[in-house]
Amino acid sequence: MSFKFTNPRAQYQFVGRSCSITGVGSYVPERVVTNADLEKLVDTTDEWITTRTGIKERRVAAADEFTSDLAVKAAERAMKMAGVTADQIQLIIVATITPDMPFPSTACLVQKKLGARNVPSFDLEAACSGFIYGLEIGQQFIMSRTYDTVLVIGAEKISAIVDWTDRNTCVLFGDGAGAAILQHKENAQGLLTVVMGADGQKAELLSMPGGGSRCPATVDTVAAKMHFLRMDGKETFKNAVQAMCSAANEALRRCAIDITKIKCVIPHQANRRIIDAVSDRLGATPEQVFINLDKYGNTSAASVAIALDEAVASGRIQRGDLILLVVFGAGLTWGASVIQW
Ligand code: UT7
Repeated sequence: MSFKFTNPRAQYQFVGRSCSITGVGSYVPERVVTNADLEKLVDTTDEWITTRTGIKERRVAAADEFTSDLAVKAAERAMKMAGVTADQIQLIIVATITPDMPFPSTACLVQKKLGARNVPSFDLEAACSGFIYGLEIGQQFIMSRTYDTVLVIGAEKISAIVDWTDRNTCVLFGDGAGAAILQHKENAQGLLTVVMGADGQKAELLSMPGGGSRCPATVDTVAAKMHFLRMDGKETFKNAVQAMCSAANEALRRCAIDITKIKCVIPHQANRRIIDAVSDRLGATPEQVFINLDKYGNTSAASVAIALDEAVASGRIQRGDLILLVVFGAGLTWGASVIQW
């Protein structure tokens, strides 16, 4: 299996002005669902979930709390850190596979709730890779001097599309949101490179077949559980390891940076065994790798965004440190980014 990358430019500062992340924020719903809680729902055990995935608990949003609500809370925290008010935001990108509704976009709902008037706002669908796709799109507008302040959010209420009777999937996912403010900062580096990739040949491995134009909602599609997420776990696992390693290596190569120079590796939080396999192959030490999967499970597009915020808040990342984000998701999609914090 080979993963190819288009547009293999090296450091972005040579082609435009640099783009920094000036603020990060995250939010997870209050309700904690532990592995013990899931033992009461499906035929599973804390031991199986812990050893096969590394997940101990996850957050589940309230019935009246939607993806846009999680997104807004994360965004407000990122804006506070960046010292940015709603009227300064010039573009809003929300990466999600669980929009509040098919349309209008969750980004437009976020714009309304934040009070950011009349700025372009759109959703981006790259599943678990969405936040890195969002960083790349956002930074293109900063680099080209089109916008000065861009809000990128990864947000999911994935509990809404999980079949809570299917032990193969329901133990894996959780709800949450993470956000970043992108701006140009004088004498700062920021995003050194972003790698993105996708392979639509493997679209069937991880999907929600119902609810789109192919299978609009009918009594039959609901009865056939087509509005729930489906995954071929084993194949997805194998592809995840290979694609994440390829993306991370490509990002490091473009920047001519050795893995030993990376202060913190932030991988997509889907499975501890995937994280360990990727870290091993990249030659990263356990001390370099940030993991919060045990607390939140797989939050899809929010995953690395929440982890980045927590890594910064906990002091694991200091200004000037080099960090590596690496993601993988349905599509299949993948991506990686080297950032000088
Ligand atoms: O974010 C997008 C990317 N997502 C991923 O990267 C997820 C990738 N896949 C995975 O993380 C793993 O494949 C899983 C965690 C989903 C599954 O782990 P696995 O080691 O591949 O297990 P398996 O699917 O091969 O299942 C092994 C056994 C099966 O039983 P049999 O057929 O051997 O009797 C399953 O039915 O484990 C069973 N099983 C469970 N048992 C207890 C599956 N789920 C559960 C469960 N509790 N929750």
